[in-house]
Amino acid sequence: MSESDLPTPRLPNARDAVRALRPSQIREVANAGFGVENVLPFWFGESDRVTPEFIRTAASEALAQGATFYTHNLGIAPLREALAGYVTNLHGATSVDHIAVTSAGVNALMLAAQLVVGAGDRVVAVTPLWPNLVEIPKILGAHVETVALGYGAQGWTLDLERLLSALTPDTKLLMLNSPNNPTGWVMSAEQQRAVLEHCRRLGIWIVADEVYERLYYADDKARTAPSFLDLAGRDERVICVNSFSKAWLMTGWRLGWIVAPASLMDDLGKLVEYNTSCAPAFVQQAGIAAVQQGESFTRQLVADLKTSRDHLVRALSALPGVDVKAPPGSMYLFFSLPGAQQSLALCKALVREVGLGVAPGSAFGPEGEGFVRWCYACDTARLDAGVARLQTFLARHVAG
Ligand SMILES: Cc1ncc(COP(=O)(O)O)c(C=O)c1O
Repeated sequence: MSESDLPTPRLPNARDAVRALRPSQIREVANAGFGVENVLPFWFGESDRVTPEFIRTAASEALAQGATFYTHNLGIAPLREALAGYVTNLHGATSVDHIAVTSAGVNALMLAAQLVVGAGDRVVAVTPLWPNLVEIPKILGAHVETVALGYGAQGWTLDLERLLSALTPDTKLLMLNSPNNPTGWVMSAEQQRAVLEHCRRLGIWIVADEVYERLYYADDKARTAPSFLDLAGRDERVICVNSFSKAWLMTGWRLGWIVAPASLMDDLGKLVEYNTSCAPAFVQQAGIAAVQQGESFTRQLVADLKTSRDHLVRALSALPGVDVKAPPGSMYLFFSLPGAQQSLALCKALVREVGLGVAPGSAFGPEGEGFVRWCYACDTARLDAGVARLQTFLARHVAG
C-alpha cells in the first residue's frame, strides 16, 4: 500500500458545537496590545480598585481557621441565609430554599442553562449582549435567536412587540440581561411585567441575568434596577442570576448565586456537583462579610460610578464625531465614533497607536457593530488620560 492510499489523518478536534463558538474579540484586541507600553485598559468589565479590605480580611481569617474543605453543593448554610436576607430586603420574601451559591455569575448562567435547555431547543436573547449568554446555550446544542435593541435619540431601547412575537410557543428559554452589558440599557418594570405574563402563558423559562442590578443610576431612591424578582413568585419559571463581582468588586473571587424555584434545587445541586462541586469555602465566608457589612460600600461605589459615567460622557461628547449618551445602568458606555463601522480593526488600531484599550462593539454580536464599549469603573483622572489618547487618534485619522 502506498502512502497516498492511507486515509487522511483526522485532527483531534472538539465537537462541532464547541468549534462553532465565537472566540472573544476583546481578547483579540488585548493581544494586539501586547508589547505596547503603558496601555490604558478600559476593555474588561471590572474596576481598577481592589476588593474592600473587610472582605479580604474575612477570607484571610477563614483560611487561617482552616476553611479549606469541600462544602455543600448549594453553598454553606450561613451564606445561603445571608443571601436570602439580602434578596428579601431588596425584592421581597425569599427563603433559603430558593438560593444556591455558585462559582460566580458565569457559572450560574451555565448551570441555569443546563437546568432547562437541551439539544435542539429554541432560546431567545436580547442583543447586543455579553457573548456568554448567547454562547452558553449553544454549547448545550440549543439554537439561539436574537432580538436586537434599537439605538436612537433615547439611547438603546427595546421594541417590546418584537420581543413578544419572537417568544413563540416552541421557545424554551428567554435569556435577558438588565442592566445590560454592553449598552447600559435597563428593562422597565412594565416591560418585565409584559414579558413575564407572556412567558407564563406559554410556559417559557426566563433566565434573568441581574449581576448589574445595583449599578443603577436612573432613580436615586431605588436601590436596584427593576428586577424580575419584584414581579415573579419564587416558584415560577424564573431563574435569577447574580454575582459578587460587580457590587463588591470581587471579580477574581468567582462567587455568585442563583434565585430559583425550590423544586429545581435538588437537580441544581447535582449540576453543581458535576461542574464545580462547590464554591471555595473561604471565598464563601468572605461572601457573608460582603452581604452583611457591604451595604455602605456598595452605595458609595454606585455614587462613584455615576460620577465617572457623567464625567466620561461629558468628555467624550466634546470630541468630533462621537455620539454618546448616559445609560441608566451597568458600568459601560457603548458609543459610536468615526471608524467604528469596523470596530474590531478600530480597537486594534487604538491600542497599537495610542495605547487606548476599549472593546469592539462587534464582540457583542453583529448588532453591536458601529460602537465601542468603554468601562468607566475608575477615577476621572484615568478617564481623562484615555480621552486625551482618543482625541490624539481622531485628530490623526479624521480629516477635519
Ligand atoms: C452580563 C454579565 N453577566 C454575568 C457576568 C459574570 O460575571 P462573573 O462571572 O464575574 O460573576 C458578567 C461579567 O462581566 C456580565 O457582564
